[in-house]
Amino acid sequence: MSSEVAGYRAQADSIREAFERKFERFARFLNKRINGENVVDVTEFNLSLEEAQAELRALSDLETWYVGRKSQLSALKKLIGKVSPEERSGFGQYLLLTQIAGTDKIAEVESNLQSYIWKKRSERERVDVTLPGRRPRRGHLHPITQLRQRIEDIFVSMGYAVEDGPEVETDFYNFTALNIPELHPARSPQDTFYTTGGLSLRSQTSTVQVHAMQRRRPPLRVIAPGRVFRRDTPDATHNPMFFQVEGLLVERGVQMGHLKGTLSEFVRRLFGAGTRTRFRPSYFPFTEPSMEADYSCFKCNGAGCRLCKGSGWIELGGSGMVHPNVLRAIGINPDEFSGFAFGLGIDRMCGLMYELDDIRLLFENDVRFLEQF
Ligand code: FA5
Repeated sequence: MSSEVAGYRAQADSIREAFERKFERFARFLNKRINGENVVDVTEFNLSLEEAQAELRALSDLETWYVGRKSQLSALKKLIGKVSPEERSGFGQYLLLTQIAGTDKIAEVESNLQSYIWKKRSERERVDVTLPGRRPRRGHLHPITQLRQRIEDIFVSMGYAVEDGPEVETDFYNFTALNIPELHPARSPQDTFYTTGGLSLRSQTSTVQVHAMQRRRPPLRVIAPGRVFRRDTPDATHNPMFFQVEGLLVERGVQMGHLKGTLSEFVRRLFGAGTRTRFRPSYFPFTEPSMEADYSCFKCNGAGCRLCKGSGWIELGGSGMVHPNVLRAIGINPDEFSGFAFGLGIDRMCGLMYELDDIRLLFENDVRFLEQF
């Protein structure tokens, strides 16, 4: 053997020795030969999942050090072509055996660590199917929505369709078509929020009367529940945003008796068969004649209590016969058709039914409050 090749072999030997020293920490992950058989009990590794993963990374670093592209062993392999042809294959074989001696051990440890990690991971992620499930917290509809649905059900059973309308309105729908011309004093108690483009948030669901008559043409029966807005200062009975439900019936030969009968039947279905109604004259620009409807207090049955402030009666809302000017504004002949309309405030009704001291509670979104309904 030439002294050149002997020197290279000595270099290979010292690389392998260095490898063996570095490998010592992984030796415990090798298979054991017991009675001529290769066995491994990974449970003896006694590592956490994270520790085992760290060992695997260190092992991969050692492999790179030993046989990686820039390793000393690779540098020696590049010299194979340079030694004399007689010595070439012997030297090549020597380097290959040196390499395999390390990579075989690395492969064995890697496979054992992998199965240990797999085992640890499946232990951690195991699902105990016998544990009771976590029950999802179920919500429910907001009390105003619940009441709105009850009201809708009653009117639908009386043959009414449920109509929807825009919350942002033109001056025409909000006021003019409802017989409230510009500068009319009735615009003031219903003052609302205006956009810069001259539109306004509707201050009452009565705007849907106009849309409904344009859309459907009489004869028609509709109710229109929805959100309305007013520049009212919030207090126990006022919010700047609240809900109303509008009712409108336009047919031939409709008169006040139909209106009174409809509202009376409605409160009987909502509050119980014994509920009575009374009607007081009132004024709305879009109805003539107009009246306010009251119903006997559902708590004291009319005797007088804290809820009805001792009067025995609770206000239901405004109503009246559709003004001929409203019919004319949308091209309906008031000599042929007549109708009635009513508008009820859902929030106040809801506040009374649940005996709330303050309707602002309904919009505070406090779950502890809302959970009670
Ligand atoms: C009207 O809004 C008429 N559009 C009702 C109507 C319809 C009359 C059809 C004739 C024909 P009024 O402004 O009174 O009427 O309001 C009706 C109901 O809305 C009131 O009875 C009350 O329950 C409710 N309401 C009024 N302002 C507020 C407010 N700021 N917060 C909560 N509820 C309110």
